[in-house]
Amino acid sequence: MIFDTHAHYDAEQFDTDREELLGAMEAGGVGTIVDAGSTLESWDKILELTERYHFIYGAIGVHPDEVGTLDEAGMERMAELLDREKIVAAGEIGLDYYWDKENHDIQKHWFIRQLELAREKQMPVIIHSREAAADTMDIMKQHAAGMKAVIHCYSYSAEMAKEYVKMGYYIGVGGVVTFKNAKKLKQVVEEIPLERILLETDCPYLAPVPFRGKRNSSLNLPYVAEAIAELKGTTAEEVIQQTEKNGRELYGL
Ligand code: NI
Repeated sequence: MIFDTHAHYDAEQFDTDREELLGAMEAGGVGTIVDAGSTLESWDKILELTERYHFIYGAIGVHPDEVGTLDEAGMERMAELLDREKIVAAGEIGLDYYWDKENHDIQKHWFIRQLELAREKQMPVIIHSREAAADTMDIMKQHAAGMKAVIHCYSYSAEMAKEYVKMGYYIGVGGVVTFKNAKKLKQVVEEIPLERILLETDCPYLAPVPFRGKRNSSLNLPYVAEAIAELKGTTAEEVIQQTEKNGRELYGL
């Protein structure tokens, strides 16, 4: 079944019909979902979702746009929550120089602190990186060697993707791969092994064609699997099976 390795069902965009939507997942072929932490406020909602739905697991972390709200008390709470049974990763953490909400030194500081905490807890990490290719690679080399990781919503070159694959990391691929103008990501998918690709939505964002611009959900992932299958010369079923296996391996499920 489909494994959505990165979703945000804690987001307010799902407040009106969350229960109905999540109730439709298993019939829609979605077997497992990891809901990724973004803000400090998202954490309690994620815990609630993991308690309520057997197929939802959580990741706890603070997104680079939000690290201005992080402090030592936040780090202590994160450490405590990473020990919970259904919390399977630290994330999403990283660098975002596109929105550039916090200065780069502050972003790097909290990225490294959260990476170090994940290492201490022996947990995989979900990496968010936008327009920060070189700094992300440097930090991963210096602070995450030997750890399990996914570079989520991957947006850089095929060459760099191959370097991450060599480091043992996974590459997260979502709705963008169905966009006509996504030449770079299509090339990435062609050049890295299917054994290193994960399916993800990042919902409510990044819906695939034919729903581009609308609210996304895990039920749209067959379109992503189909686009990857075409690029790889295989079937969507094979993509779904292999990426599920990959997701289980990353998160230890
Ligand atoms: Ni995300």
